[in-house]
Amino acid sequence: MNNPVTSHPKLVTSVAQLREILAGVRREGKRIGLVPTMGALHEGHLSLVRASKAECDCTVVSIYVNPSQFGPGEDLDRYPRTLEADLEALACCGAELAFVPADGEVYRAGHATWVEVGSVAEPLEGRCRPGHFRGVATIVLKLLNMVGPNVAYFGQKDYQQALVIRRMVEDLDVPVEIRICPIIREPDGLALSSRNAYLSPDARRRSLVLCKSLHLAGELIDQGQRNARVIAQRMRQVITTAEDAQIDYIALVDPNTLEPVDEITGPTLATLAVKIENTRLIDNCLLEPKR
Ligand code: PAJ
Repeated sequence: MNNPVTSHPKLVTSVAQLREILAGVRREGKRIGLVPTMGALHEGHLSLVRASKAECDCTVVSIYVNPSQFGPGEDLDRYPRTLEADLEALACCGAELAFVPADGEVYRAGHATWVEVGSVAEPLEGRCRPGHFRGVATIVLKLLNMVGPNVAYFGQKDYQQALVIRRMVEDLDVPVEIRICPIIREPDGLALSSRNAYLSPDARRRSLVLCKSLHLAGELIDQGQRNARVIAQRMRQVITTAEDAQIDYIALVDPNTLEPVDEITGPTLATLAVKIENTRLIDNCLLEPKR
């Protein structure tokens, strides 16, 4: 049922219509915020919408399951598509515009240009998912060009993605501010993700090892441990308590360059990717050693 105090976002499916509406918004001197998503919206996405609502006059949420960022054998076909519920959720947080382009609107016949970001896109997710960030950077640049926002919002949940986008915007002189918002978690600590919907009740329970291992990394650093190899090893032990967990990586890296760290001397990103029952989950935590 519609809640009478909420109003649905305007649903826009073509780039031409989007540009026309936003030209009018811009003429009124309003600030435009963009929240790019692939839908199946949850509180993580909605926190980005609220951040945009707090500082922009018009919030555009794009919902598009971008085929070019999925590798062969990944979950493109089964990725959850829940448009009705997504529009309801956006109504509740007051997003003004939902941009839901059809495939043919985005990658038109003859599309042949791709954005390759350098070193920050190479390790971690880049190594496990070849071509992933090329797809992400290309779609995000296209969305930025379609919408022309003043500010665009991304989650720290996909830390490396946010760095890749920051690098691209800086290198290609895209006139937009990039905001990176905190990870929203379930009460028991599991980071919200559209892919959590794939987890069976048992796998959902086992998936808690991700945030537990990040928590342990924080505790070890608080206790004075500075050896990254030791910390990663202890994190690995936590992950392997979950039956059938397959570790893609567990890494302690420099939060700006994503280069591996040997000794913790300053802010360090602990990041990991683990498959639980064929569902690939990622999580991370920025660790700050106290002096
Ligand atoms: P998607 O996975 O739908 O995520 C959209 C945005 O929501 C991303 O910026 C992501 O980091 C953020 N997000 C996801 N879970 C979150 C959580 N638990 N807390 C806070 N933010 C969270 O990331 C993508 O889509 C795509 O790669 C996209 C950027 C849309 C390009 O296709």
